[in-house]
Amino acid sequence: MSDPAAGVGRYLIQTWGCQMNSHDSEKLAGLLEERGYLPADSPAEADIILLNTCSIREKAAEKVFSHLGTLRPLKEARPSLVIGVCGCVAQQEGESIFRRAGLVDIVLGPRAIESLPAMLEQVLRERARALDLARREDSIAFEGRRVRRAPGPRAYLTVMEGCNKTCTYCIVPTTRGRETSKRAEAVLQETRDLAEAGYREVELLGQNVNAYRDGRTHLGDLLCMLQEVPDIRRLRFTTSHPAHLSLEIIHAIRECPTVCEHLHLPVQSGSDSVLERMRRGYNSSRYLDRVDKLRTHVPDIALSTDIIVGYPGETRAEFQETLDFLQKVKFDQVYSFIYSPRPGTTALDEQDGVPAAEKQARLAQIQSVQQEIQLGRNRSLLGSRLEVLVDGAARRGRGQLKGRSRSNRVVNFPGDFHRVGEFVQVFIESAGANSLEGRIAPAPGA
Ligand code: 5AD
Ligand code: SF4
Repeated sequence: MSDPAAGVGRYLIQTWGCQMNSHDSEKLAGLLEERGYLPADSPAEADIILLNTCSIREKAAEKVFSHLGTLRPLKEARPSLVIGVCGCVAQQEGESIFRRAGLVDIVLGPRAIESLPAMLEQVLRERARALDLARREDSIAFEGRRVRRAPGPRAYLTVMEGCNKTCTYCIVPTTRGRETSKRAEAVLQETRDLAEAGYREVELLGQNVNAYRDGRTHLGDLLCMLQEVPDIRRLRFTTSHPAHLSLEIIHAIRECPTVCEHLHLPVQSGSDSVLERMRRGYNSSRYLDRVDKLRTHVPDIALSTDIIVGYPGETRAEFQETLDFLQKVKFDQVYSFIYSPRPGTTALDEQDGVPAAEKQARLAQIQSVQQEIQLGRNRSLLGSRLEVLVDGAARRGRGQLKGRSRSNRVVNFPGDFHRVGEFVQVFIESAGANSLEGRIAPAPGA
């Protein structure tokens, strides 16, 4: 709670959803800290609580309302507590959030983040509710120094926002609006600032990041431009759409030394008929062609993907095509989800017909097939050395560190905490489906 030594008060931000949302929380935190707020450790300590929400699946959206319920006793005991709902649920539900959850003071859409300070002032001064759902074209330009990033050597940087695609199941174009790209010069400057602040890896973010475009500069050019920031030793970008994976981008991955050999390329389904019903704009052979090109140019590239099971009307045969597809591509990581109907999306009008239990069974099957594939791919790394950027302490306890390889694999190994932020060579001694273990090897030539 507010005490004069703690500035104007304490804030807590709880985040759901994707990297874009995590980074938006860092922007919200930056705005609050600029005004003298300090982080709180728990809801009971906070003067302002923001829920930065995700609406990609129904469960994620519903969690917000059950979470708000748990905050009710705090708000009743302390009416001065300010509660805000930000992110994709805010954009999608808007004003109705005030009716459904009377304790909410602020509803703030993801393209209107910069309004937070003014809204907070309005709430505190007038004890009135504040809502901003504007999808500002220039929201992309807001970042600069007003970001309070999570600790560690890796930084997110937004380079584009929004999505112009029309995938039938997806709420994102509604919640995040049309595509807008940040000026390349601004991306370069912000990357230099990140290097100066001590970051060593930058992940460029955008809902459809490989559609990035600033005049004639596309994502491939941008990645090449960023090579001139020598202290940034690793670049990644997410999330990519297969239809925009140009040869220029593939060349940039091959030619630019700091661009990591990892690509997240959501395929959603291995069945052409499902892909067509989803209006994804490619079929399985076009996707496979991209994978071939990637592997020809960058042989050790790691690939991850997203799969939706139980899309309306998905037959057993169509599902089998997705299983076969996983065997064909052998991804390094797969995130799989049961289709969730979202308000305002066109897939809502399609006949479903796949029973819930069958969808669960399909999800389990995808996961078990993929576990085996991942285990095989990770085992092939036994005995090799990987360059790992040390992120922090591993969950497994004292003296254990964790980090990521260039291929985005999680690697655990014993080591001293002072190595966080360093690049180390790790000799891989054991491999699970989701992580590797090893020990620090002497640097080559040492
Ligand atoms: N139901 C289930 N999964 C979805 N995704 C997007 N929309 C839905 C939905 N309605 C998945 C896609 C996307 C990932 C971020 O979430 O696989 O790539
Ligand atoms: Fe969730 Fe999509 Fe919004 Fe990210 S953009 S928070 S995944 S709905």
